[in-house]
Amino acid sequence: MITTSGLTKVYRSRGREVTALDGVDLQVREGEVFGVIGQSGAGKSSLIRCINLLEKPTSGTVTVDGVDLTALAGRGPRAGKELREARSRIGMVFQHFNLLSSRTVQGNVEVPLEILGVSGKERARKALELLDLVGLADKAKNYPSQLSGGQKQRVGIARALAGDPKVLLSDEATSALDPETTRSILELIRDLNRQLGLTVLLITHEMDVVKTICDSAALMERGRIVESGTVAELLATPGSQLADALFPVSGEATADDRTVIDVTFHGEAATQPVISQLSRTYNIDISILGAAMDTVGGKQIGRMRIELPGRYEENVVPIGFLREQGLQVEVAGDAAAAPLLVTDGAANPQLIKEGVAK
Ligand SMILES: Nc1ncnc2c1ncn2[C@@H]1O[C@H](COP(=O)(O)OP(=O)(O)O)[C@@H](O)[C@H]1O
Ligand SMILES: [Mg+2]
Repeated sequence: MITTSGLTKVYRSRGREVTALDGVDLQVREGEVFGVIGQSGAGKSSLIRCINLLEKPTSGTVTVDGVDLTALAGRGPRAGKELREARSRIGMVFQHFNLLSSRTVQGNVEVPLEILGVSGKERARKALELLDLVGLADKAKNYPSQLSGGQKQRVGIARALAGDPKVLLSDEATSALDPETTRSILELIRDLNRQLGLTVLLITHEMDVVKTICDSAALMERGRIVESGTVAELLATPGSQLADALFPVSGEATADDRTVIDVTFHGEAATQPVISQLSRTYNIDISILGAAMDTVGGKQIGRMRIELPGRYEENVVPIGFLREQGLQVEVAGDAAAAPLLVTDGAANPQLIKEGVAK
């Protein structure tokens, strides 16, 4: 639904150059909620502004719903109308709402409809329908100053939906809101995603936002996407920073001759009593050092840091057992960090990480 390819943005001001986007390849599938997370200055806002061509990319392409927006923008002033039309199919929600204080709530939602040339009567009908959709039907005649932050953002969302967009872009839409209001706005976005089949690309610096509503996520650093995938794929990726941030686990070994492992549960395995099976099968006592469980996209997902008696070498079989159950297992500490050099049959030494043949 949204594809960027080699997207680059270099800002030039007073002889200085800032590379805000450095070859971003992004793929957002139709109907998903995709979160881009990253620290301040990572290039997140530049990415979203380049996707709807509010900012002209320095190079690379942006395709939304099959339309190459960069090609439209590149064709000069005559393409203005086509680009405007394509852009009206992309809704945009901002952190600071950007509402007009002199206009009523309904008047604010009507702004994009006016730009689209919708007649007065039809404008009012559409605006009221959208306000109903975001739960603000009774506030149509109020002014923005009479609304709470959450209500203002609902107006912002209604306005973003005016052009019947297929795609909603959100730049830190909940960053100015308290946690409870954040939750209700995220629920609204999730409902719209499901009801309208709206594809959502949201930018955030809050991990909780990703956890609450995203199907997929990408991590941005210094203008580049350094990790990307569905939440399940990220969890299945050893060493994924996003997986660690989504499900942080901590806990130290209680003694030297212990093996500490991080087990990631998702899909089927999350509902199986694997830890008790492991304990019974190998007759070992297992300590849970830390755990983080949650429901992501309706599926139970989690991580657990557990401790097994004995050194790493003694636990190769139990660890293999866990992997056979479909669990992602990472061995913490030094034992696994130093790869084992094992000889595979003949004189064919193989470097096998964590001692488990792949
Ligand atoms: N209009 C601009 N002119 C010059 N530099 C800019 C402009 N907009 C953003 N930048 C710079 O580009 C980099 C990325 O900024 P931004 O996309 O806003 O990141 P984020 O949204 O992740 O905080 C930063 O170094 C920022 O200072
Ligand atoms: Mg930003």
